[in-house]
Amino acid sequence: MTSKNRIRAWEITSESNYLNRRDFLRGSGIALGGALAATALPRVAEARPPELETVAWPGSTDEAPNSWEDITTYNNFYEFGTAKEDPYRNAQDFVTRPWTVRVSGECDRPGDYAYEDIVKPHTLEDRVYRHRCVEAWSMVVPWVGFPLGDLLKRFEPNSNAKYVAFKTLYDPDRMPGQRRPVLRWPYREGLTIEEAMHPLTILSVGVYGREMPNQKGAPMRLVVPWKYGFKGIKSIVEIEFTQRRPRTSWNMSASREYGFYSNVNPEVDHPRWSQARERRIGAGLFAPKQPTLMFNGYGEEVAHLYAGLDLRKNY
Ligand code: MTE
Repeated sequence: MTSKNRIRAWEITSESNYLNRRDFLRGSGIALGGALAATALPRVAEARPPELETVAWPGSTDEAPNSWEDITTYNNFYEFGTAKEDPYRNAQDFVTRPWTVRVSGECDRPGDYAYEDIVKPHTLEDRVYRHRCVEAWSMVVPWVGFPLGDLLKRFEPNSNAKYVAFKTLYDPDRMPGQRRPVLRWPYREGLTIEEAMHPLTILSVGVYGREMPNQKGAPMRLVVPWKYGFKGIKSIVEIEFTQRRPRTSWNMSASREYGFYSNVNPEVDHPRWSQARERRIGAGLFAPKQPTLMFNGYGEEVAHLYAGLDLRKNY
């Protein structure tokens, strides 16, 4: 049964949680941070993206998802500005169709693939994942996506394919943040082939049962739930299978602070702050921070990928 025919659990919880929280805030007159900051933003003309046909994925977390407002107004997407609300403000007019992804490197089916060719053969799943940023905040996001590995297999990687490299669109006319050298453009990320093929890794094309909002990485982005959020590269236009470890944007700009693996790890501090605890966006300024979980809580599924690797050195 597709989700169009039924109401999903997160639709009930998130909407009612969100409304309750707003009622409480209005009643108490207290400014409680994330959620209120989000609703206090000046409104830009925001059209909600179209709905998608999805099926529920049984491995989701049962934690309550963040509201649509939290998820779409508090973002990192430096191509549209460096402040958290900039992507919401500045990406509304970003046009993402037609969209082409170039596939290259160590595979037998390289080529230019249209968005529709990439997405159509796959069943879209609702997957509710914890999302943990390196800045020590977290959210719970109801993504729509499908296993990246199912897509990569269609390109028939060969035995030299040890890594997968990704790039974001480079187009300063459409992405005004790229006119400033805050990062070396285009944004780049990479995974080992084992990480890319892991069933928890998805290519995401939406949130909350709708197509991906621009500020969230339209039309398609990476989601790797056991890693810090910056591994989740947005608005992907290139996928390359490589023999050597690819360079990544954050590692290129600050290698002491951002490694290649970037698995969520409460025991390895960022050089400038602790990673032991996290602030759940939307919980309010006075809510206690919560302990961060190794691999963001997905250790049972992914720890074996790093057997024998020193995770203090390989951060
Ligand atoms: N992808 C691109 N192309 N540009 C970016 O600036 N920011 C990264 C990642 N992907 C970024 C990107 C960072 S730092 C984080 S924390 C996540 O996107 C934020 O994703 P979210 O806005 O969905 O929370």
